[in-house]
Amino acid sequence: MSKKIVFSGVQPSGDIHIGNYFGAVKQFVDFQDSHECIYSIVDLHAITVWQDPNLLRNNIHEVLSIFLAAGLDPDKNIIFNQSKVSEHSELAWLLGCTARVGWLNRMTQFKDKVGKNKDTASVGLYTYPILMAADILLYKANQVPVGDDQKQHLELARDIAQKFNNDYKVDFFKLPVPIMNKNATRIMSLRDARNKMSKSDVSEFSRIMIKDSNDEIIKKVMKAKTDSMKMPENIDSSMSRPEINNLINIYSVCNNLSKEATIEKFALKNIADFKKDLADVIINTIEPISKNSKKLFKDKSYLDDILKVGAERAKNIASYTIKETKKIIGMM
Ligand code: TYM
Repeated sequence: MSKKIVFSGVQPSGDIHIGNYFGAVKQFVDFQDSHECIYSIVDLHAITVWQDPNLLRNNIHEVLSIFLAAGLDPDKNIIFNQSKVSEHSELAWLLGCTARVGWLNRMTQFKDKVGKNKDTASVGLYTYPILMAADILLYKANQVPVGDDQKQHLELARDIAQKFNNDYKVDFFKLPVPIMNKNATRIMSLRDARNKMSKSDVSEFSRIMIKDSNDEIIKKVMKAKTDSMKMPENIDSSMSRPEINNLINIYSVCNNLSKEATIEKFALKNIADFKKDLADVIINTIEPISKNSKKLFKDKSYLDDILKVGAERAKNIASYTIKETKKIIGMM
């Protein structure tokens, strides 16, 4: 039986934080032996908000070096930057004619990002989910490892695939499903547990970056906002305390423990003691990735070779899908 196809992407719009790592990249690594995996550094998505060209180039290498340091094997996976495979943009146009304006108007991420400044946002930011659908459908991916914030975009990709298949009476595009990492579907900000941990939060203390030094990690964890009670003794009391619940989730994913096991281990202990242990396990998890990625980052020609080979392999699949899609639509 042929392996199922996995596709996912990460924007090179800044360094990777532990939300990106646990929500997405760690899952990418878990899939690489059992699935046919295609992972893209989605630079076309990144420019929906202005990027400094030099920084963008730098960030593409940066994200790739973190992928590799986290354990992604470039021989087992197709790894490339999105703009090298022009079929992504082409399919986005074709699917843009299937997607409905009303569907895009429902996208909460767009609304959250632009707030009251809708008129000055780029058109690309608005049509972003169509490009994301194209990324996935181009490779007929069945499974898409992502964090919870991408769930609505995945639903839109399914709607587009389904409408296309219905409109042209074909069974062509597969309907992709999101795959989430149980305790890391949404790692929250360390400053305000109502918001997800995000690259764009103004406070550096809201997130732990893969490349943070050990001292920075300790400082951020010890300063993480919590209440002043003892550690919770069961799931219900943990769930009613969002800040501590978030830290318990992070501890659990770092140690591959169930949430119940983490709660039992620290029940009724002091939060400060828990935080010390938490900083240790975060450091143990990300220090090797951080060190290794810094080494890999220096070898630009090695990184460029990986992107070149990855793009060639991706293009082979993508160009076939475009040819078939055009045929279905009635183009020569
Ligand atoms: P991006 O670059 O914002 O984030 C990369 C991945 O990290 C996940 N993530 C999180 N997971 C848990 N907790 C968090 N706080 C957290 N923050 C981010 C995201 O869900 C994502 O999986 N639109 C995508 C990129 C993309 C894509 C695709 C993904 C483009 N095309 C096709 C899947 C399939 C994005 O902006 O990810």
